[in-house]
Amino acid sequence: MNVMNSFSLEGKIALITGASYGIGFAMAKAYAAAGATIVFNDRNQEAVDKGLAAYKEENIKAYGYVCDVTDEAGVEKMIAQIEDEVGVIDILVNNAGIIKRIPMIEMTAEEFRQVIDVDLNGPFIMAKAVIPSMIKKGSGKIINICSMMSELGRETVSAYAAAKGGLKMLTRNIASEYGEYNIQCNGIGPGYIATPQTAPLREEGHPFNSFIIAKTPAARWGTPEDLMGPAVFLASNASDFVNGHVLYVDGGILAYIGKQPK
Ligand SMILES: NC(=O)c1ccc[n+]([C@@H]2O[C@H](COP(=O)([O-])OP(=O)(O)OC[C@H]3O[C@@H](n4cnc5c(N)ncnc54)[C@H](O)[C@@H]3O)[C@@H](O)[C@H]2O)c1
Repeated sequence: MNVMNSFSLEGKIALITGASYGIGFAMAKAYAAAGATIVFNDRNQEAVDKGLAAYKEENIKAYGYVCDVTDEAGVEKMIAQIEDEVGVIDILVNNAGIIKRIPMIEMTAEEFRQVIDVDLNGPFIMAKAVIPSMIKKGSGKIINICSMMSELGRETVSAYAAAKGGLKMLTRNIASEYGEYNIQCNGIGPGYIATPQTAPLREEGHPFNSFIIAKTPAARWGTPEDLMGPAVFLASNASDFVNGHVLYVDGGILAYIGKQPK
């Protein structure tokens, strides 16, 4: 066995949700470089068009669909359409996500529900829609984009932490329930990554910026490109016996107690 070949995604079809830009776009670029056909969705035509233009600029042929991951009927329709127009999905990456930074006692139940709906119900709906064809095919990879908030709590992110903690457990459950069909479900937990989602925290003089530099052993924000290698690994045959885990790509911050006096 040539070990490097086991990382190849040649002939595979990858669906990455919300991959018009940011982390999803970077992972999709890595999949394309590894040989996969790229399919993505986003919640409106404007985002999909922006994504299609960005892939074109990178010389990547990508298929884009308008679909909200919280809409079960819409997702089922999209998956049927993809199977028809592109083929059976080998790799699903549940990347679409939202965050609301609001102190818990000021958050409405409706706002809490919106985050849970996109970040937890969405991956459930998407996974449920692709698993039957993966079972028929005899293989499949599902990668859930979790967060350090799958492990930790912090001010203002109660709904996000609850959703991402739940997503970690959904990951384990899918691995437990469908591992026997040669389906591997793992998570990636990005640390603090410089994307539009974290733009407010990176504004000049924001205390969070200095906090990240001080607290991350790597002493920097992550970049979407930092997710590329881990995403390819978990989508490829190289990880066929890795199931139900979350790989944290966080510059070591989860493992680190903070700078101590020497
Ligand atoms: N940026 C970070 O530091 C960080 C850290 C940990 C985890 N994450 C997670 O990584 C993933 C990607 O993050 P990002 O920073 O690239 O986010 P982003 O906001 O830049 O991009 C998310 C994408 O998802 C799409 N989306 C949102 N709701 C949707 C819906 N209902 N249906 C379909 N598409 C929808 C958005 O339009 C957007 O294209 C998210 O799940 C996020 O929670 C990000």
